[in-house]
Amino acid sequence: MKVFKVQGTTGDSTILIGEKLRNLKKYIPVDKTVVITDANVRYYYQNDFPCHEIIEIPTGETSKNLQTIQTIYGKLIEFEANRSSFLVGIGGGIVCDIAGFVASTYMRGVRFGFVASTLLAQVDASIGGKNGVNFGGYKNMVGTFGQPEFVICDMALLKTLPEKEIRCGLAEIVKHAAIGKADLFFYLEKHYQKALELDSTVIEKLVYDSVRLKSSIVNRDEKEKGERKKLNFGHTFGHAIEKTTGVTHGEAISVGMVAASRLSVKKGYLASEDAERIEKLLRKLKLPTSYQPDGEKVIDALKRDKKRQGGGVNFVLLRGLGNAVVEEVSLKELEMLVKRLH
Ligand SMILES: NC(=O)c1ccc[n+]([C@@H]2O[C@H](COP(=O)([O-])OP(=O)(O)OC[C@H]3O[C@@H](n4cnc5c(N)ncnc54)[C@H](O)[C@@H]3O)[C@@H](O)[C@H]2O)c1
Ligand SMILES: [Zn+2]
Repeated sequence: MKVFKVQGTTGDSTILIGEKLRNLKKYIPVDKTVVITDANVRYYYQNDFPCHEIIEIPTGETSKNLQTIQTIYGKLIEFEANRSSFLVGIGGGIVCDIAGFVASTYMRGVRFGFVASTLLAQVDASIGGKNGVNFGGYKNMVGTFGQPEFVICDMALLKTLPEKEIRCGLAEIVKHAAIGKADLFFYLEKHYQKALELDSTVIEKLVYDSVRLKSSIVNRDEKEKGERKKLNFGHTFGHAIEKTTGVTHGEAISVGMVAASRLSVKKGYLASEDAERIEKLLRKLKLPTSYQPDGEKVIDALKRDKKRQGGGVNFVLLRGLGNAVVEEVSLKELEMLVKRLH
């Protein structure tokens, strides 16, 4: 097992890579714990849950809203949960986001931790202390910063994960490699097949390196004032594509990373061979690198995003494999790019 610390202003978080769900009881006050999970995770793993007080949420992004939060508050009151209760989210990014939000707000905040059960949650969503839900058609519009006391990344849980969810996690790993870890990029180029097959040595290395990169960025910039923005590489387009086409998040950001790499080449920051290398790696990982866009809709979604941010669009560009910069890019430039994405 490998252990990392994230030091946030709201508390420290210990990331336990390779720890097992069945050892969760070592980290919690069992008699005061309530588990928040979703139907799929409960179906596969309930026998390993440490307690009987379980709140199940429906699966899918549509349940990541304030309605679900309210339902959970109601259940916590039914369970007579109080300030000394402990909440554990066992699930993917959606369960972690919801459990973190509930724990940060219920009775002004109770202790909490996560068992991340998807590759995406292990390498991304469970790390960093952002907890949010969607509101009014906007993603993660309402939320809190609050670090979970611990995050257990049990790679054995990934065995039951559908393949498309594995690919979503791999897309975020490519993102981490591209913005800050060239050696991880080269490793993935070499071991992509084993990654897709969930070879335990390879997956452990990918999770470990990703957690190391994300936690070091979060340690330097918890509240996303600067460097943390780099983690949005591929996400400006990605979110717009995800919203307008209904493809998965990982697929959308895969195309988004291709777009951002091409823009980096166009600006003279990135060698075209490196942009091609990124596309090639994504294809090897069975991720899409182009799509037939409904240009108008994508631009519309980008505009709405811009309105939300105010001013220009903060965009993450590459200055080489493993080296990212954040710059303001005009909407005009982004529109041109959308037109050339297929
Ligand atoms: N807070 C953050 O910093 C952050 C970062 C990245 C993403 N996110 C959020 O994470 C969410 C996406 O997370 P996700 O991709 O994990 O999706 P998810 O939580 O919806 O999980 C994907 C699917 O896999 C199922 N599942 C989970 N674990 C399983 C297992 N071990 N075996 C079988 N099935 C399993 C789930 O029930 C679900 O159907 C998005 O809402 C996104 O906004 C948050
Ligand atoms: Zn993402």
